[in-house]
Amino acid sequence: MEDPMDERLAEQIAYYRVRAPEYDAWANREGDFDRGDRNEAWHEEKRRLAVRLREFWPTGNVLEIAGGTGQWTEQLLRYTPLVTVLDAAPEALEENRKRTARRTEMIRYVQGDVFTWEPPERFDVVFFSYWLSHVPPELFAGFWERVGCCLKPGGRVFLIDNLPSDEAEELDPETPTGDDMSVLRLAPDGNSYRVWKVLRSPEELHKVLFDLGWDLEAFATGDYFLWAQGTRSRLGTGSRVGAGGGSRGAEHEHHARGECDQRDRPTSAQAPSSTCEPHP
Ligand SMILES: C[S@@+](CC[C@H](N)C(=O)[O-])C[C@H]1O[C@@H](n2cnc3c(N)ncnc32)[C@H](O)[C@@H]1O
Repeated sequence: MEDPMDERLAEQIAYYRVRAPEYDAWANREGDFDRGDRNEAWHEEKRRLAVRLREFWPTGNVLEIAGGTGQWTEQLLRYTPLVTVLDAAPEALEENRKRTARRTEMIRYVQGDVFTWEPPERFDVVFFSYWLSHVPPELFAGFWERVGCCLKPGGRVFLIDNLPSDEAEELDPETPTGDDMSVLRLAPDGNSYRVWKVLRSPEELHKVLFDLGWDLEAFATGDYFLWAQGTRSRLGTGSRVGAGGGSRGAEHEHHARGECDQRDRPTSAQAPSSTCEPHP
């Protein structure tokens, strides 16, 4: 029998595969997500996110984790032509490709599972939007180890996510599953899928990441979104791993010690050692 964690991760990917063709409606407040008079506040907060990203200036070699249909890939391409988009859903990557193909030929689309993907190089910036809340709590610390392993020394992170707020909950109500870590989502194929949705306030996010050795400032845009930016500052104290991660859990233990598999990496100046030590 398949590991329960693997099964649930597969279910989450399956949901986004089915949803890819209509995903942009959520971001653009169209169709089922059209909220009339309240759309403008949503769009205004999205514009604030774009301003923050501009101030961050994500230049150099950028990795976008779980890039999806390209809502933010498009924005990243304003600052750099060197973007690698990783996503597990080929349908989402296809939408992304359609959206971004005319902008640059240097974008790389990679279909892969972020919990097992081995980066072939290190990046100046790692970016992800509306992804962190989908990371299972058991894999959270390991995920951040992976992010650390994807970055060059001094590399930076920028992330965007949903904010826990009454206004956001009222605008897009979720169907509870009985635990406060996941929700049930009805997909266009008529099936319901369980996905993780772990919302954190900017303060909670800052604290949990600080414990893992990251120095990220996090802020709300208003009612709907948060953004955070920063770097890895040191080896964290909170990177012990809980049980239940299955094969990825074992891997997570490995990465929680600050080691990255460098087998496929070039022995260039970008990846000088045989293990990926957390950057001071
Ligand atoms: C909420 S969407 C966010 C998409 C995009 N970042 C955006 O801002 O529109 C989450 C994305 O995560 C991808 N995803 C889900 N599980 C994944 C995994 N294990 N590895 C990589 N991508 C995954 C889905 O295919 C989907 O495109």
